[in-house]
Amino acid sequence: MKIGRITCLTVAVVLLLSALTGCGGSDDRRIIRIGHNQSTEHPTHIGLTAFAEYIEENLGDKYVVEVYPSELLGSQTDMVQLTQTGAIDFCVASNAILETFSKNYEIFNLPYLFASEEAYHAVMDDETITDKLFKSTEKAGFEAVTWLDAGTRNFYTVKTPIESPADLKGLKIRVQQSPTNVEMMRLLGGSATPMGFGDVYTALQSNIIDGAENNELALTNNGHGDVCKYYSYDMHQMVPDILIGNYNFLSQLSPEERAIFDEGFDIVNRVEREEWTKAVEAAKDKAANEQGVEFLYPDQEPFVEACMPLHETVLQNNPEIQPIYDAIQEYNEMYGQ
Ligand code: GCU
Repeated sequence: MKIGRITCLTVAVVLLLSALTGCGGSDDRRIIRIGHNQSTEHPTHIGLTAFAEYIEENLGDKYVVEVYPSELLGSQTDMVQLTQTGAIDFCVASNAILETFSKNYEIFNLPYLFASEEAYHAVMDDETITDKLFKSTEKAGFEAVTWLDAGTRNFYTVKTPIESPADLKGLKIRVQQSPTNVEMMRLLGGSATPMGFGDVYTALQSNIIDGAENNELALTNNGHGDVCKYYSYDMHQMVPDILIGNYNFLSQLSPEERAIFDEGFDIVNRVEREEWTKAVEAAKDKAANEQGVEFLYPDQEPFVEACMPLHETVLQNNPEIQPIYDAIQEYNEMYGQ
């Protein structure tokens, strides 16, 4: 398992500082550390803070929850590895990168998988679909405990407005570090440049990449809209974020404690999703009116056509996910547009 040296050092310093300052000498409460890669204004942080408060209210004599934002504990990939080993207890990871830890997560990385936002939410809320997958990673050392909305992913660029897949040709576009995303970019004709989220702003600013793809909050919360002036609603993916916890930590909780934690995980989901809806509206407004980002609404059909072969390839290579895929189609029929 390879974690960057600088990350190890940062994590060691952060954890040491928290041990020294965290809860005072006589306090023997167990510290629960949660890492994520968003700012403190982001819905993810607000949801996790609500979780910390809930645990404090209900199990505060035994546990204290510390939430580390902004990649303080490393990139998402680093944080997943730290969660696997139990160096930290939880982290939020995009479903995109989880496929490199457990192949079946590929399913939610497929472009144009969901017919609508309603279908996406209904699938993610249906435990008969998610439960098996979420609990399938005991050997990998973690368990997924809830999902968080991360909206719809769209392309945005510094100079070239993307009106059709042809406009992506010759452009270097940052994608998340996942084979499915790299293949999606290849099918769309752009040149995939995988990198961690924290490196994207500098890469855009220094012209290492021509654009990226993400939800609207990346424009404002992460400042990408200061550099990229065109945001195209091609709506290629709805990729959830997943809260994962160290398997050993979760399995040593008593049934009573686990019930309280489970309620806490539901609170993360509820609060984050409420905040998400408000945050997207605010981000669109800020991007358009303060950052001068132009929003484009291209015909989605050519993007869909280019991406669809990926469904077949992924299902052929991994037939285990076929039942989930089929169940999703039922929701697509119910909530299609
Ligand atoms: C979104 C998502 C993050 C992810 C990021 C990315 O912001 O919420 O979990 O890390 O996209 O593109 O890497």
